[in-house]
Amino acid sequence: MLIGNWKMNPSSPEEAVSLYRRTRTKALKFPGVTVVLCVPYIYIGLLAKKAADKRIHIGGQDISVVEGIGAYTGAVSAELLSKVGARYTIVGHSERRIAGDDNIVVRAKLKSALRAGLFVILCVGETERDSHGRYLTAVKEQVESALRGIDRAEYHKVIIVYEPVWAIGDKALRAATPQDVLEMQIYIHKILADLIGQEIARSMLVLYGGSSDQKNAEEILRTGQVDGLLPGRASLNPEVFGVMIVIADRVARAT
Ligand code: PGA
Repeated sequence: MLIGNWKMNPSSPEEAVSLYRRTRTKALKFPGVTVVLCVPYIYIGLLAKKAADKRIHIGGQDISVVEGIGAYTGAVSAELLSKVGARYTIVGHSERRIAGDDNIVVRAKLKSALRAGLFVILCVGETERDSHGRYLTAVKEQVESALRGIDRAEYHKVIIVYEPVWAIGDKALRAATPQDVLEMQIYIHKILADLIGQEIARSMLVLYGGSSDQKNAEEILRTGQVDGLLPGRASLNPEVFGVMIVIADRVARAT
């Protein structure tokens, strides 16, 4: 699975359509790779119509904690998102956590997204790595808190993305190493197994995000043994994203 997080890009609907089309052309050649584009709200309706054949999926980047409709200026609920054709939404992205979303808010958003029938892309990750393993506790709390109280039958609608905050964005020094990713992938699956049992835990997707690109994709996927990637910057370049799709397909076939 490859999830492109466009963040606050591109700068016009025309560019959004062009970026979508060029990405779609690449994606169609590799039907074994699920491609999701998480785009700004204002482009969701437009692109979801184009993606109606579901060969590539459109998602949001966040939702309001409030459900349904009502007098909430500036808010967009999961229900509204779903009605314009989104099938996925990110919750708990570090850029939203920095803006104030704590674990309780993330849980409320996750539940509201599930109630609206969306697949949830739950981002978790530590702000920094320490030598005492506190980063492991932080990730554990994020996973456990977000999933608390959800129905067993709904777990398969949650995709967990390990995104260490120190590896995200153009100020990041580097992506996590494939070894870091492997360690965290195993750890997250263990947390899930303790919560809901081996069987469901094993079937859940765990991805990596944070400075992933065409150069490190293969090693992260192979060594990290994750089910996919969530690139930000790299998803804005269809050539680069296209190479990542090719790599994801190759790795999936080899495993
Ligand atoms: P990046 O962003 O790939 O540009 O580091 C990833 C993300 O924040 O989702």
